[in-house]
Amino acid sequence: MIIAVTNLKGGVGKSTLARNIAVYFAQQGEKACIIDTDIEQRTTCDWRARREGETDLQIDVFPMSSVDGLVNDVKTHQSNGYRVIILDGVPQLEKVTTKMILLSNFLIIPITPSIDDLKSFERFLKRYEDAKMVKPEIPAFLALNRFSHNAESCEMKEALSLFERYGITSLHSVINERVAHKRSSKYGLTALEWEDPKAKAEIEELCQEIETRLIEKMEAA
Ligand SMILES: Nc1ncnc2c1ncn2[C@@H]1O[C@H](COP(=O)(O)OP(=O)(O)OP(=O)(O)O)[C@@H](O)[C@H]1O
Ligand SMILES: [Mg+2]
Repeated sequence: MIIAVTNLKGGVGKSTLARNIAVYFAQQGEKACIIDTDIEQRTTCDWRARREGETDLQIDVFPMSSVDGLVNDVKTHQSNGYRVIILDGVPQLEKVTTKMILLSNFLIIPITPSIDDLKSFERFLKRYEDAKMVKPEIPAFLALNRFSHNAESCEMKEALSLFERYGITSLHSVINERVAHKRSSKYGLTALEWEDPKAKAEIEELCQEIETRLIEKMEAA
């Protein structure tokens, strides 16, 4: 199973969610790894290095070899027994984004409640629509990150519901703004491994929903 966490926008929570999803599946006993497609920043590779000595739960993180090498990277990791491969996306680099969309079985698109994110998502949608001409079945879900109960978040939820006609729906589980994400990352950990029960519960709910949708998808196939 290949899960891409992608969006053309920077700083929306791609790496945060990719790491949490990997930890969630690893906690379930699945052999999971992350491919860090940000070969310049390598932020998730660095996160992995900070994990050393903090926990016994091993999450392997591999840097993408190159844009053209991504398909082969995935094949190699699959043949090495990884059953869940999470692609941590990059902002901007549209060629990688299209490749990731085509390569994965499932897309998670993190988005925060801002007009900039909405505009950038429209640009992403164009990529998604193009990819669907080549591969019609690409399940994609928006993961609402840094949402709360304020007017902006409600407006954004409403605006995003309009994209259902493109086959992109929002996951029901919503992630609030929580310091646990930044604090846990400092130690190479995730909210799932942190002491804030609310942050942990939100991520757990989101990951369970992703798991349920994945099972539905496999049963439908
Ligand atoms: N729900 C949240 N609450 C508080 N902080 C968050 C939340 N989600 C992410 N962050 C923080 O926001 C910052 C950006 O998140 P992250 O690195 O996951 O985004 P990204 O989309 O991967 O960014 P980039 O495009 O640069 O790769 C990080 O410091 C992260 O800890
Ligand atoms: Mg990132």
